[in-house]
Amino acid sequence: MIAAPTADALRRAADLIRGGDVVAFPTETVYGLGADATNATAAARIFEIKARPSFDPLIVHAGGLDMALRVVRSLPAPARRLAARFWPGPLTLVLPKSDIVPDIVTAGLPSVAIRVPDHPVALELIERAGTPIAAPSANPFGYVSPTTAAHVAEQLGERIPLILDGGPCRVGVESTILSLLGEPAQLLRPGGVPLEELRALIGEVKLAGPGDQPLAPGQLPRHYAPRRRLTLVDAAAAVPARERAAAALLLASPDPRALGFGRVEVLSARGDLREAAAALFAALRRLDGGPFERIYAVPAEEAGLGRAINDRLRRAARGSEGPAE
Ligand code: TXA
Ligand code: MG
Repeated sequence: MIAAPTADALRRAADLIRGGDVVAFPTETVYGLGADATNATAAARIFEIKARPSFDPLIVHAGGLDMALRVVRSLPAPARRLAARFWPGPLTLVLPKSDIVPDIVTAGLPSVAIRVPDHPVALELIERAGTPIAAPSANPFGYVSPTTAAHVAEQLGERIPLILDGGPCRVGVESTILSLLGEPAQLLRPGGVPLEELRALIGEVKLAGPGDQPLAPGQLPRHYAPRRRLTLVDAAAAVPARERAAAALLLASPDPRALGFGRVEVLSARGDLREAAAALFAALRRLDGGPFERIYAVPAEEAGLGRAINDRLRRAARGSEGPAE
């Protein structure tokens, strides 16, 4: 059931969390499916509802620095600087976990992924529940993440007692995940905080190389995938004219040569990468539900939020074509 975030609904939501149940709630990035991060049975419900492989660790959401400090063993100097600059906000830090976090939340890892979400409804829920909330994106495993309450309801509505509606998500792609377990810090997933801003603050940040083990399922080659076949092309002009009528085209910014397609979705008419990121998942869902044989997508500029957009598009393309590697 979808509910506006009234005081009454927030009270019910907090009661559900405290009682070991799940609640879907808005964050600035995407909607999360939350449970008490200190309650192993409650966290198990998340895996059950998402049909998520249990080796996949969850992000823990704290209401502020004090609560975050209960979840990690310590907050080293770079983590403090990052937290001071980007929390609340779309940056998740991976750090050694404290004992209050059960193994199921971290999939047995000695580390925990933690962030403070920048959304009044999420913060109010955490505050009222009085506990950190573990939450993955509120979508079936592997599918496009939800950026509205309706997206959550379409796919998981019957299995979730309450969906708090906070409107469309402002950022629209998931948080940036940064591991601070080693030196230098390592980017595990590009997201709402651009890599350039991290480097400006803490200096060197290592990228996950192609040979690296997938540490995060967001890093699995197939993820964020629509059901329809999605193919990346350098430009609209690369799609043969005879295929266009039966195809949809997804563009980060307008292209005057995008002619003859069944539909063209432009993520930002003024070519703004933030606006494009915010529109990405809803557009993928619309095209996935449309009368097209396939979807073509032109990647954004590989900078700023463009990295997160392109990362999701690449994984969506791999996920929609043939068997997993
Ligand atoms: O923006 C977001 O981060 C959203 C909202 C709801 O906060 N959440 C989200 O969660 O995207 P999820 O579960 O879809 O992605 C979490 C990612 C996973 O790929 C997971 O493997 C990784 O975080 N992760 C969690 N704990 C980790 C750890 N200890 N080490 C490495 N990666 C970790
Ligand atoms: Mg996800």
